[in-house]
Amino acid sequence: MNASGRVQKVRSVCHIAASVGAGRRDDLEQLAKMRFATREQSTRSPLQRPNHEIHPMTTDTPSTALQLRSLVKRSGELELSLASIAILAPAADEVLVRIEAAPINPSDLGLLFGAADMSTARASGTAARPVVTARIPDAAMKGMAGRLDASLPVGTEGAGVVVGAGSSDAAQALLGKTVAVLGGAMYTQYRCIPADQCLTLPAGATPADGASSFVNPLTALGMVETMRREGHTALVHTAAASNLGQMLNRICLQDRIGLVNIVRQQAQADLLAAMGATHVCNAASATFMHDLTEAIAATGATIAFDATGGGKLAGQILTCMEAALNRNASEYSRYGSTTHKQVYIYGGMDTGATEFNRNFGMAWGMGGWLLFPFLQKIGPAAAQVLKQRVAAQLKTTFASRYAAQVSLAEALQLDRIAVYGKRATGEKYLINPNKGAANDSVPSKGAA
Ligand SMILES: NC(=O)c1ccc[n+]([C@@H]2O[C@H](COP(=O)([O-])OP(=O)(O)OC[C@H]3O[C@@H](n4cnc5c(N)ncnc54)[C@H](OP(=O)(O)O)[C@@H]3O)[C@@H](O)[C@H]2O)c1
Repeated sequence: MNASGRVQKVRSVCHIAASVGAGRRDDLEQLAKMRFATREQSTRSPLQRPNHEIHPMTTDTPSTALQLRSLVKRSGELELSLASIAILAPAADEVLVRIEAAPINPSDLGLLFGAADMSTARASGTAARPVVTARIPDAAMKGMAGRLDASLPVGTEGAGVVVGAGSSDAAQALLGKTVAVLGGAMYTQYRCIPADQCLTLPAGATPADGASSFVNPLTALGMVETMRREGHTALVHTAAASNLGQMLNRICLQDRIGLVNIVRQQAQADLLAAMGATHVCNAASATFMHDLTEAIAATGATIAFDATGGGKLAGQILTCMEAALNRNASEYSRYGSTTHKQVYIYGGMDTGATEFNRNFGMAWGMGGWLLFPFLQKIGPAAAQVLKQRVAAQLKTTFASRYAAQVSLAEALQLDRIAVYGKRATGEKYLINPNKGAANDSVPSKGAA
């Protein structure tokens, strides 16, 4: 490693330490809670662990790694960059994973870009160490208060090869295995993580196959589980041609559950129809409200999961559910149908206000839905059943597709950002932090 690289590493470590010492622990803990709500999904990145002895790895593993960072400055500027961080030796119950695939999900984009207006993005730095800056509108800075001047690692989930292990049997058993991991800070070349947060991928599965093993699969399964637990028999889903929506469609076909898919473009409707979807409604069509009411009547759907959040869609779904239910009403009630209708907003694709006309009686609810609180609610045993189904059907029901696989530096190129930043159907990117890196070796047992 050259001298300038070493200086940067030291600064990086000092920055975090100084931030924590200066009372920024709250920010870091908040980030941890946000992204890793369950005990087994410990949220801290290596640099966030207080009192952890920092010493470089021995043998084949490099002593430093590149990590993508997102920084919101008090001045109202977003800065994306690559930091050089020290690679920690795993503790007894930990493993060191060389990350080779990590998806850029919409929730990652939220942390990556913050409230920045990415149309103002500018590039600087070098090809190997690009820096991207963008302006954050003044009105949006209030929402950034919790992360001001904290350089945050990004990337909720990923997959790679275990190249180092602590002394415990569980950690040693993973050495050389290809694993999927959940725990934040995945846009990094090496990630030290508890062994029990690793999902060993089935034989033949690559890191790219396993990169999206947690967030979207468990959310799609969580929707079906929520539907059942709350007494509904069919569901409505919006932004339904998304990666997650395609998984949900496959689950519902497999489990024979009625699903009404809502998209906003004919191409997306065609895509889902080609995948066997029975009910697809295009929100841009002049006959949308009629089509949606018919599909809801045909399936009996009384629960919906809305990824758009803003605009009129959530209210339109409740309106159509009420219209479908009233078709079978034997007598008029001024309070509307007595059947409870529920919409869960679980994404924020449309950042505008949520608007609705309350014309769907009194038996309705609208609320938020998040994966990690849901997993906590159902408990570890039920969550494990869902995880096992994902592992068993990783390359079929829960397969994800990516438009491109990029290195950390490529992920910070403006033309790439313009594509994956759109959150459009089929445009999801995969980051391979080790793309082009020279270190391909797996150390022998105990090398860490
Ligand atoms: N709450 C949770 O715990 C949780 C967990 C996982 C995922 N999620 C959410 O699940 C959603 C899907 O994630 P993903 O990874 O599957 O996404 P994805 O594959 O990147 O697809 C995004 C989809 O959203 C559509 N879209 C984008 N902007 C839209 C808008 N303004 N109005 C309507 N549709 C829009 C796109 O359709 P077009 O091609 O028409 O633009 C595309 O089909 C995201 O909102 C994500 O945040 C939530």
